[in-house]
Amino acid sequence: MNMTFNVKEPYVFKTELCKLFYKYGADKCPAIRHSYSPEYYTLLKEYKSQFTDILEIGVGNDCQLRYSDKFAKIQISSDSIDWVFEYIPGASLRAWRDFFTDANVYGIDIDKNVLFEEERIKCFYADQSNEEELENTIRDIEKYTNNKNQKFDLIVDDGSHIISHMILSFKILSKYMRINGIYIIEDIKKEDIDRFKNIELPMGIEIIKVYEGKDSQDGFIAYQRTAVAALDRRSMRKYLPTISELIDRLSIVQLKEVFIPEHKEEYAQEIKDIVHDLDELGLNGNMIRTTIVLAQMNLHIWHNETEYRKGEGDGNLGLTHGLNGIRNTAKNIIQDQLEDGGRKDYKVDCIAAEFEDWEVSW
Ligand SMILES: C[S@@+](CC[C@H](N)C(=O)[O-])C[C@H]1O[C@@H](n2cnc3c(N)ncnc32)[C@H](O)[C@@H]1O
Repeated sequence: MNMTFNVKEPYVFKTELCKLFYKYGADKCPAIRHSYSPEYYTLLKEYKSQFTDILEIGVGNDCQLRYSDKFAKIQISSDSIDWVFEYIPGASLRAWRDFFTDANVYGIDIDKNVLFEEERIKCFYADQSNEEELENTIRDIEKYTNNKNQKFDLIVDDGSHIISHMILSFKILSKYMRINGIYIIEDIKKEDIDRFKNIELPMGIEIIKVYEGKDSQDGFIAYQRTAVAALDRRSMRKYLPTISELIDRLSIVQLKEVFIPEHKEEYAQEIKDIVHDLDELGLNGNMIRTTIVLAQMNLHIWHNETEYRKGEGDGNLGLTHGLNGIRNTAKNIIQDQLEDGGRKDYKVDCIAAEFEDWEVSW
């Protein structure tokens, strides 16, 4: 599909992002359509070598247009050049990959025909208006990256541009922002910008930029998860549990999950909720929870082996073996959450059926 655009120099290539979006044919730059790229450059330049996981809703299809030498036609008038573009899906994903030097870029799209995989880019299917599909896609990314606690540094919504979809996607995906992570919602019409300014924000997330561009269809909003915001909000809380109370509760519920098997599912849910709250407060809830499991397993093993050696009580080598498996899994999960991964011990023993009450929910 081809279309003609008006290119005005020198504004068009003000920043590296302007050049990259233009190179691949993404309409986020003034040379093609939107005036976002200079603004994005200001927001993102300090994270160029820090951001490692980028997620964009909207890989791009025929509605987008890509500049191509092969198809370019030039007509020079007094102050402008007109070009003809052809679009290849994944334009902005490629630009993000080139800009963030150490990042992997994940694309989400409802159109299965545009999904692709290439160096540091992998696309997944999801309809952004469907909460379950979005969550499933995060699970798919977690499987792909072998990281059970996948978080993102930059999330960009350039998908359906339907307000209800954008708000729903923000509600679901903002949970997966790292500290300093930025969430951008693009192509917001002037008359709709207040809807996005007034979204009830999860704790720790704040608006960092409201951009109303060169015309009524050239707006975006950017949110960021900041540790400072999390702490400020926490200090305003009057009756909610403090962080130490949450962690204390987590360690008790973790014991209950193992020792009160008839309510295993309820406790697993409570654990998930507390981990979520800790994340909201700017901590790594899963890391804290896994450390608690590790410490508790060591205590259980210690106790069990002591009983076994004394030949008393319920000491049982089979149980020690199984708990060791849970301990190894905990260690691997901790390694998985570290930025550099590091050495992993994949020796994971299975707990025997007779001890399955001891299984923990990961
Ligand atoms: C504007 S294009 C994305 C362009 C791309 N980000 C770029 O800059 O090169 C929008 C994309 O969103 C996808 N899309 C539309 N509705 C969607 C939905 N409900 N869920 C996920 N993707 C959707 C379309 O299939 C299309 O590929």
